[in-house]
Amino acid sequence: MGFKVAVVGATGNVGREMLGILAEREFPADEVVPLASRRSQGVELSFGNSLLKCKALENCDFSDVDICLMSAGSAVSKEWSPKIAAAGAVVIDNSSCWRYDSDVPLIVPEVNADAVTGFRKKGIIANPNCSTAQLVVALKPLHDKARIRRVVVATYQSVSGAGKDAMDELFSQTRAVYVTDPIEPKTFPKRIAFNLIPHIDVFMEDGFTKEEWKMTAETKKILDPKIKVVATCVRVPVFIGHSEAVNIEFETPITAEEARDILRNAPGCLVIDKHEAGGYVTPYEAVGEDATFISRVREDPTVENGLVLWCVSDNLRKGAALNAVQIAECLINRKLIEAKKKAA
Ligand SMILES: NC(=O)c1ccc[n+]([C@@H]2O[C@H](COP(=O)([O-])OP(=O)(O)OC[C@H]3O[C@@H](n4cnc5c(N)ncnc54)[C@H](OP(=O)(O)O)[C@@H]3O)[C@@H](O)[C@H]2O)c1
Repeated sequence: MGFKVAVVGATGNVGREMLGILAEREFPADEVVPLASRRSQGVELSFGNSLLKCKALENCDFSDVDICLMSAGSAVSKEWSPKIAAAGAVVIDNSSCWRYDSDVPLIVPEVNADAVTGFRKKGIIANPNCSTAQLVVALKPLHDKARIRRVVVATYQSVSGAGKDAMDELFSQTRAVYVTDPIEPKTFPKRIAFNLIPHIDVFMEDGFTKEEWKMTAETKKILDPKIKVVATCVRVPVFIGHSEAVNIEFETPITAEEARDILRNAPGCLVIDKHEAGGYVTPYEAVGEDATFISRVREDPTVENGLVLWCVSDNLRKGAALNAVQIAECLINRKLIEAKKKAA
């Protein structure tokens, strides 16, 4: 007997990817229920070789649902995750609503899978921000080897990280440039076509943006509270795939060659690092892939025990949908949950 899985936000960028990944990985589900707002009731969504009809979230009875993958934003999660958890389903949430709650584990399975047992307190598990997920996958094996003191990271984040409306905006603005139509920014604060914007999420009192703050707070919670992280987050006119330039300072020495060897053997990492034109990964090549790609590993001559690297990942997969499905698999593989129908 398999599990009953609900996907909330199934019509969105992340939700559609979740349905694809559940089918691709042959997740042990007897039933998958796609849910979204009332607007999407009846919309047909691909699930492997079949089509599923989307239902409205408020009409769903969660009493026989085992796992709920949520990706409908913070407001929906705040209202619905506790109700769904109270009905007995484990909620794996993609929004930032629960990430900093000490009773909710924030999980990247390659990094802190053991912390998943903490789900019992609230019945909710949080998925990190897309930029944090790929960063910690790359940092973890290096931290294990040489203890990271400080990370300086600049991100180059694709528009899909801001939802499906943001992707439409990049498309329509790009078209408008070619046909000389006027450009009116809606989702983004400035024009994104043929431009980039050093501002993601809201500004905070200290001048950092919330996205930058998230990378610091989440890396500490997932990997090690002692690691200092400072980020500059930038939106770029790329549809899918986040890239990061990462400067890392370690407590003990580590060479670029050692780092490459460690990363080659690390879960979730793929090293492509040839010192020649094209010998590195760009976001376009990461689309549809599960790995966090690492390129351009160098020793930093300006600090003691420093490395610099470039990392790229599909933000809709490792940054959201894939990570959520991996968390669900982790619960099942570790026998932390069992299907309600079987239990009954
Ligand atoms: N994109 C990423 O890289 C990424 C990474 C990590 C985390 N996340 C997080 O994942 C969540 C979803 O992101 P996304 O990029 O998939 O956004 P999106 O493409 O804009 O999709 C939003 C989804 O939420 C649904 N929704 C909105 N209001 C709802 C309501 N009142 N009740 C039920 N469903 C509702 C929408 O349904 P309708 O189609 O019916 O409106 C849609 O399915 C956000 O919290 C985001 O921060 C995204």
